[in-house]
Amino acid sequence: MKAAIISLESESSKRTAEAMRKYFDKVDSINIKDIEVRTYREDIEIIYKENKLDGYDCIYAKGSYRYALVLTAITTALYDKAYMPIAPESFDIVHDKFLTQLVLQKHKIPMPGTYFAPTVKTAKEMLKNVNFPIVIKLPRGTGGKGVMFAESFSAASSLLDAVSALKVQVIIQEYVETNGTDTRALVVGDKVAASFKRKATKGEKRANIHSGGVGISCVLNDKSKKIAVKTARALKAEICAVDILETQLGPLVIEANLSPGLQGITSTTNIDVADKIASFLFNRTKSLKDKGKVKDTSKIFEDLGITPNSDEVKEIIINSEFRGNRLLLPEIVTKLTKFDEKDELVIRANKGVLTVEKLAKE
Ligand SMILES: Nc1ncnc2c1ncn2[C@@H]1O[C@H](COP(=O)(O)OP(=O)(O)O)[C@@H](O)[C@H]1O
Ligand SMILES: [Mg+2]
Repeated sequence: MKAAIISLESESSKRTAEAMRKYFDKVDSINIKDIEVRTYREDIEIIYKENKLDGYDCIYAKGSYRYALVLTAITTALYDKAYMPIAPESFDIVHDKFLTQLVLQKHKIPMPGTYFAPTVKTAKEMLKNVNFPIVIKLPRGTGGKGVMFAESFSAASSLLDAVSALKVQVIIQEYVETNGTDTRALVVGDKVAASFKRKATKGEKRANIHSGGVGISCVLNDKSKKIAVKTARALKAEICAVDILETQLGPLVIEANLSPGLQGITSTTNIDVADKIASFLFNRTKSLKDKGKVKDTSKIFEDLGITPNSDEVKEIIINSEFRGNRLLLPEIVTKLTKFDEKDELVIRANKGVLTVEKLAKE
């Protein structure tokens, strides 16, 4: 099987590509910066070094928030052609802390109280009703760089003025006391592959490694494990890191990361996380391929006892197959219904029932 990793070719991505080479027959490492997206009429093509990107069984596309748009385009174009662990809609959501908050809240995942106001004036009004200290965050910041702490109304008010000069919007979050620590859980598939605690350096509140935080090994409690896996599922990212603040009242998720650094977590836990990711990608791709193995159509019809052109409604029993939260139907369904890409379809769905019908044109 052939795989590609599309990334910024950081050290972590190189390690992952290396690990993937142990499983897949061929692994191409592709830099996002060399990707072109061409859309024309009904087609969308992903071009890499003047060639159409095609023929992969698995594509692991990831990168920083600056590349969210191109990552969305790549996954949108190729999601049904290859196994991709992160869904198209994830990139915009996960790369924005407030959009993440909105999605996770819908999935009943506990997070710190967070406030948003579209203007500084309204944000200042809001400050009158919050308890200090508070955290002010740039929704697209990473590495602790967009996270500010304010002990009082006057500190928060001047911070808001300063960021408004940069013409960026911010979110305001309740400060959760954790002694300068946070927990990072790396979710791979439906499991936490590794986790560690990060502790901020003296005088610093942000636990990020980039802000000088140090990794400490820890045993993640079951509740946090469950919440991390639930977070990844809600965000439709089969591989992602989930940052958690552990409190007396239970875990609170603060954000997720689609392209987490692997060095800190590997050296702290001694778990070969690159290998865990690579073997997961391989097994997932293989099982999807095995399930969807394309047989000669006439043979499939014959096996199912179906005469291809008869008008009778056919009943087929299959094992349900999902890509993320999306239901995939076998190719035989396309053949029997003769649906094609241009058709408009009417879907009627209720618990346990689904019908799909071609929209009758007037
Ligand atoms: N609500 C909060 N209360 C206390 N500390 C926080 C809070 N939010 C973030 N932090 C600290 O700041 C760090 C960075 O915040 P985070 O939201 O993860 O942003 P980034 O994307 O920059 O990592 C966290 O690792 C944690 O140590
Ligand atoms: Mg973080």
